[in-house]
Amino acid sequence: MTSIDQLSSCINQTVTLKGWVYRLRQSKGLVFIELRDGSGICQSVIAESDVSTQDWSEAQSLKQESSVELTGLCVADERSEGGVELQVKEVNVLQVAEGYPITPKEHGTEFLMDHRHLWLRSKRQWAIMRIRHSIIYAIHSYFHKEGFIHMDAPIFTGNPAEGTTTLFETEYFDEKAYLTQSGQLYGEAMAMAHGKIYTFGPTFRAEKSKTRRHLTEFWMIEPEMAFYDLELTMSLAEGLIQSVISDVLETRKEELSILGRSLDTLQATATQPFHRMSYSEAVDSLKSSAMSEQLDSMMDARHDEKAQLRSEDDQLKQEVGSAKKWRKVQIEQRRKEILERLAQVDEDIRNIPVWKDSAANFQWGNDFGGSDETLLTMNQDRPTIVHRYPAAVKAFYMKRDPQDDTLALALDVLAPEGYGEIVGGSQREESYDVLIERIHSHDLDEKSFQWYLDLRRFGSVPHSGFGLGLERTVSWICGLSHLREAIPFPRLMGRLTP
Ligand code: 4AD
Ligand code: MG
Repeated sequence: MTSIDQLSSCINQTVTLKGWVYRLRQSKGLVFIELRDGSGICQSVIAESDVSTQDWSEAQSLKQESSVELTGLCVADERSEGGVELQVKEVNVLQVAEGYPITPKEHGTEFLMDHRHLWLRSKRQWAIMRIRHSIIYAIHSYFHKEGFIHMDAPIFTGNPAEGTTTLFETEYFDEKAYLTQSGQLYGEAMAMAHGKIYTFGPTFRAEKSKTRRHLTEFWMIEPEMAFYDLELTMSLAEGLIQSVISDVLETRKEELSILGRSLDTLQATATQPFHRMSYSEAVDSLKSSAMSEQLDSMMDARHDEKAQLRSEDDQLKQEVGSAKKWRKVQIEQRRKEILERLAQVDEDIRNIPVWKDSAANFQWGNDFGGSDETLLTMNQDRPTIVHRYPAAVKAFYMKRDPQDDTLALALDVLAPEGYGEIVGGSQREESYDVLIERIHSHDLDEKSFQWYLDLRRFGSVPHSGFGLGLERTVSWICGLSHLREAIPFPRLMGRLTP
């Protein structure tokens, strides 16, 4: 058995491929199959004159997503994907699929989400999952290279780490337990044993809002480092993200191109230092007249684009009636793209005035909302690190800025192109007395934090860390419009199956 990604080294050899019928087209005496085997797609041609009568009749029974074994000659063919074509000599059908629910035509998001178990086979989802894999691999290899130890933090916990409003509560024999919101507190303990550690695990938050940025179950990578201050931590976040992007650009060109992802911002991110600004500078930028002018010109650009898309669509609509079959397919594809883009443009046109208003009236002291982050990053070509947030909107464990007690030594990394926060982190409070006071002022149960307070009693040191959201990172790198496509089986409010 040969896999499709190896075919370029099998020219003029007889090979056997095992896979699924991705697309199928029949004409007199010929069956054209795009066969996919997980590693790629191969154009395969079955000619009636080349195969036995038995195989020919089997070939004609094939339907989309039927499983099949094809043996044939691998020939070079510049016109087909991957540069090769299989001239089939033997057909062995494993199972003839029933009418496949996901067809090349347009499907709504909810329909696709209901069929996520099958949707994963489509080319776009295939590309995303391979990029996700490479991101995960790049993260592990970066930390390994930097001397970090990987740790698994518990999933059942008695400690709320990130506020009490998004906890999933569960029964734990006679006790109450929560699904973890973050492995950080355990990471801090492990960092005092190993110096530099990172967690990589599932985390859970009962997010009651439906946004493109929130899942209820997501994967987080949380490095924690003894003796690191805020500065060193910002540099680590930058180094990690740059290294991940470089690896993806190197190994996943084909997948990025399937997604139509433009590479400019990814290349800039990999090679140039990130922007850095304090929270107060970010607030000034939101309230600036430059921001409001930017939004005005964005609004004009969206109206222009809308008019252009509409007129292109009108032209295509007229052409389609008399078009040849192959051209019809092209037109339908393009009209689908236009429709998707129009929906996005209309959403922007609705949003821009709201954003403009909320940016102009932003109050120092508030946390940034999704739209504020969109505005701060929409015209950036690489990430922005925002540091020193008002302590009042941040978690209990964050250390205050010695220069200004109202500020926390916190950092967020905001991804460019409007994506917003992908990393949140901080220097940690290392003083026992201050920390216990914070636990009280945040109405947390002191008893369940005894073990965490111990870390401040036995050799407490300055230390810092952050959390990188995996799906947010995947979503930005792939250029997705919603987190639901960034994870195999997304968990969202109102969605537990499949
Ligand atoms: O900013 P957050 O809440 O920080 C923490 O949890 C810290 N304990 C991390 C640390 O310092 N060790 O979350 C970190 C990141 C966010 O920047 C975001 O990328 C992601 O986790 N995230 C989510 N991703 C998807 N869905 C959600 N509901 C998310 N909430 C946070
Ligand atoms: Mg955050």
